[in-house]
Amino acid sequence: MTRLDRVEQTPGRLAGPPLTPRTVVIWSVLRAELERRTGAALTVLDVGGGTGGFAVPLAQAGHRVTVVDASPDALAALTRRAAEAGVAERVRAVQGDGDALAGLVEPGSADLVLCHAVLEVVDDPAAVVAALAAALRPGGAASVLVAGRAAAVLGRAMNGHLDVAAALAADPAGTAGSRDTLRRRYDADRAAALLAAAGLVVEEIHGVRVLADLLPAAVADGQPAALVELERALAARAPWRDLAAQLHLFARRP
Ligand SMILES: C[S@@+](CC[C@H](N)C(=O)[O-])C[C@H]1O[C@@H](n2cnc3c(N)ncnc32)[C@H](O)[C@@H]1O
Repeated sequence: MTRLDRVEQTPGRLAGPPLTPRTVVIWSVLRAELERRTGAALTVLDVGGGTGGFAVPLAQAGHRVTVVDASPDALAALTRRAAEAGVAERVRAVQGDGDALAGLVEPGSADLVLCHAVLEVVDDPAAVVAALAAALRPGGAASVLVAGRAAAVLGRAMNGHLDVAAALAADPAGTAGSRDTLRRRYDADRAAALLAAAGLVVEEIHGVRVLADLLPAAVADGQPAALVELERALAARAPWRDLAAQLHLFARRP
């Protein structure tokens, strides 16, 4: 039984916004961790947390969240959003580069670290993951979301860009060259190895947006509840997990 199955059997108040096809898997994994720590107000670090899509709901659930992000505009939006949600006192915005994370956060201080859609764009992902691991207290957990390489190849090919698909498939980093907006993409093994190299123990890997980006809008918008359930059902299962637009890794510092 995975975290996704367990959380569905857990009654009571759960953190997070209403579940969507794009977020259901991530929130389900996070909720299971929060339920495991029932009652505790956790110290959360969200690296590249942007405008607070995860930080604000976590603060609303009673946790203290520090968001480190390179963008002043994103942090301004985060601060407004936190104030509007009435949780300004539990959300701290820190402008900084993820590549310099080690100097920005206290080692061994976080119960939960989020790093979603950031490792694709930083200079040195191994250094960022090492800093994430160092920020965690022993027993703390990391939620890491990275772009999936296979989905990018399929997506480009299905849109008729066969040359770009071929470049993406051949490039060791999983990019389509200098005009690609991302500097790298991952398959599950490579992402897991990155976390393991920093001393983190990967507990679960799920696919996020297995189908959400592939369906016609009329289907996705017309049957949102069915799509949420399908995303949840496919997230941990081969071969669908590995075809997802993003891979979510949940890991722990021993
Ligand atoms: C794709 S957004 C993801 C936002 C959020 N984590 C989420 O999943 O909704 C990437 C975020 O990373 C931030 N970012 C990009 N490069 C960064 C860096 N080197 N250090 C810190 N943050 C960075 C951007 O400002 C942006 O807010």
